[in-house]
Amino acid sequence: MMDVEVRELMQAFVLSDYQVQEVYSRFCAEISKGLKRSTHALANTKCFPTYVQDLPTGDEMGKYLALDLGGTNFRVLLVSLKGHHDAMVESQIYAVPKDLMVGPGVELFDHIADCLARFVEKHEMRNSHLPLGFTFSFPCEQKGLKEAILTRWTKGFGCPGVEGEDVGRLLHEAIQRRGDAEIAVVAILNDTTGTLMSCAHRNADCRVGVIVGTGCNACYVEDVANVDLLHADFKRNQKDVLVNAEWGAFGESGQLDFVRTEYDREVDDTSINKSEQLFEKMTSGMYLGRLVRLILMRAMQSKVIFKLSNRREHFATALQKNEDVFETRFISEIESDSFPEFSKTRTIITELFGLEKASVEDCQKIKYICECVSKRAATLVAIGVSGLINRISDRRVVVGMDGSVYRYHPKFDAYMRNTMHKLVKSDKEFDIMLSEDGSGRGAALVAAVASKTK
Ligand code: GLC
Repeated sequence: MMDVEVRELMQAFVLSDYQVQEVYSRFCAEISKGLKRSTHALANTKCFPTYVQDLPTGDEMGKYLALDLGGTNFRVLLVSLKGHHDAMVESQIYAVPKDLMVGPGVELFDHIADCLARFVEKHEMRNSHLPLGFTFSFPCEQKGLKEAILTRWTKGFGCPGVEGEDVGRLLHEAIQRRGDAEIAVVAILNDTTGTLMSCAHRNADCRVGVIVGTGCNACYVEDVANVDLLHADFKRNQKDVLVNAEWGAFGESGQLDFVRTEYDREVDDTSINKSEQLFEKMTSGMYLGRLVRLILMRAMQSKVIFKLSNRREHFATALQKNEDVFETRFISEIESDSFPEFSKTRTIITELFGLEKASVEDCQKIKYICECVSKRAATLVAIGVSGLINRISDRRVVVGMDGSVYRYHPKFDAYMRNTMHKLVKSDKEFDIMLSEDGSGRGAALVAAVASKTK
């Protein structure tokens, strides 16, 4: 039996069936609001049409360049689509220095163009004229496949001079400024769109793409008749369009206040985008570790954990150091630990806090705290996924998933399925698949499918 005190501490993180149903209804209402022209401006979930209207068939061929910006790393990729649902990817990871994340936009785009030029040089492709797909994982209002206006920065980015601008143009200009490579940007896409496309490349039933990584968001296949923002020209010969829900912003009109805790409010208060991306702040990798850190601090203060340790002071100081000392990946490690060894939990405690001996009880409590935080995150993501599945007319829907939280957490998938079984309509069948390189393969597929359509 879990200790009463820690149960009480975590009570607010355990969502009741009523709360789950209520969040579900509010979420579905918000999606409808985002799609309708008359309510779009007021909606949190912007439901941007992506201008991607065809899913891959599997027979796409050709070589493409891809860029991937939007998480902790920046990547340049060379993707060879080989037909028969097959693809080969070569890639290079580049760091995005912290100061570039909030420095002038021009410098960020110059850095991107610089990495791209180095990659092209290394692969001896300077004059190969390869088409490029840019996976830019921030909310963008698309005007077409290669025109994307950034509406706001998220996930700790905040470069001035980019919001309100077309990121395709900014990238093009940065490439021109260097003048050492001939590269045409043919598509800009969100990572969720890339995930959906790369999963659909393997599995024809895929209709939803979800990321639970640094940020949290989803894309899905919607009937063009429901997408008011899509110009009539794009509705004439097409039945569907992929919609980027931007669900991370859900809750900004107070819809989640009845489930948010004091810890959620503090994480939001100290973030660089206060009052924004509230659903994301309860579900994604950038914030889950921060939530656990705040709970651990409270648990220490009130002696719920480390009751008998004389190193409590030390532990408290270590946690105070900065908001990211308790990394989100620790949650996955701790939750994959087993009683009574708790070897990973003990290693984390020792390395982080110099605490040599944690009791079995303390390890159990810390694990329980992590479980409550990640189970709530998975439940919320599952609410969103179920809402989208239920909108789609196909009876069978496969959900493509990616992102470090989903990928590395031992139980996120199981937690999600649990909630989905309660919410997905009984006449439907669903499955979840892990995406393989959605940002790279997805970008190439969007570029390939677009050129087919032409
Ligand atoms: C943030 C971005 C969104 C992206 C998600 C996952 O929510 O706004 O565009 O898809 O993170 O990376």
